Amino acid sequence: MYEITKDQVYSLLKKLSETVGPSGFEDSVRDVVIEELKPHADSLWVDSLGNVIAVKKGSRGSGRLMLAGHMDEIGLIVSHIDQRGFIRFQPIGGVSERTLLGQRVLIKTRDGRVIRGVIGSKPPHIMKPEELKQVPEIKDMYIDIGVSSKDEAEKMGVTVGTIAVFDRDLAIVGGSSDVVTGKALDDRVGVVATIEGFKAIDGNEVDVYAVATVQEEVGLKGARVAAYSITPDVAIALDVTIASDVAGVPEQEWITQLGKGPAIKVVDGRAATGLIAHPAVRDKLIEIARQYNIPHQVEVAPGGTTDASIIALNKEGVPAATVSIPSRYIHSPVEVIHLADLVNASKLTALFSSKITSEWALSISKRVIK
Ligand code: CO
Ligand code: ZN
Repeated sequence: MYEITKDQVYSLLKKLSETVGPSGFEDSVRDVVIEELKPHADSLWVDSLGNVIAVKKGSRGSGRLMLAGHMDEIGLIVSHIDQRGFIRFQPIGGVSERTLLGQRVLIKTRDGRVIRGVIGSKPPHIMKPEELKQVPEIKDMYIDIGVSSKDEAEKMGVTVGTIAVFDRDLAIVGGSSDVVTGKALDDRVGVVATIEGFKAIDGNEVDVYAVATVQEEVGLKGARVAAYSITPDVAIALDVTIASDVAGVPEQEWITQLGKGPAIKVVDGRAATGLIAHPAVRDKLIEIARQYNIPHQVEVAPGGTTDASIIALNKEGVPAATVSIPSRYIHSPVEVIHLADLVNASKLTALFSSKITSEWALSISKRVIK
């Protein structure tokens, strides 16, 4: 079997996470994904929403497995430029005001160039004491791109509808560890696991559809239409999950721990309103992880959800589960993951895709009672 190494996942993650791709504007990420998947796929296409779908045919020609990792990231979109060239924006997806202040951003101009801006605010020296304690609203923030007029901003290719994301390189935390930090690890780690998992598939009976989905952060939209066209018998979403194993959080609220292996989900969403993982798929993941000595943890997430929850509702329903990569500080510019968790998530994806039988896939998607 093709080996999945830390160096390999690190360099692919670096390339993907430093690429600009907020929801609906995933073009640059898509280019990287196509380049990676194309040589390993029997066929590959991009659908009307922009999902990349790569197929690896199975030996039995029956049973379809869908893997989904979302390409999009949270970001900003320009809503107004004032006469002095200051740029107002709206969020794309779950952007918190608290993470925006003091950030550099990358703006993708109309002609596809990437330029730098900063999110500015009033200096503290001229704020009233009560103002200093408050987090300003997004409507009171702006992006400064160093111009002095609207004209100049527009000449640089920045107009209403231009998008921006956090400006952050992928970097190793500490001197030399397996812990890395960057932006958009939600969900470029899932894209890495989808790609590396797909490349490493060996001896699959079922047809495997690796999908790099769009618009997850704004309502699981890409996965919805991709599932409709594929009609999978089984599906796995690959995404980040909450690792709140940090200072000041009691153990019962950790959800998952960094470096303890990919998490196999039982439920997610507030009060389990996201995904309730299909028990047979969830247990098969656990069984395979145990059999091949892949460290893993079992997860009950109190909020958030993934593409799996919409794929599960496709047509007559799809048995779906999620493999998650534990991540600290999700939706911030300093998201943190452990490379071993990403390697193991990729391996689990490859093993699940390679080892499930057509018979098993078909038997769980529809049980005929005699
Ligand atoms: Co997210
Ligand atoms: Zn995500």
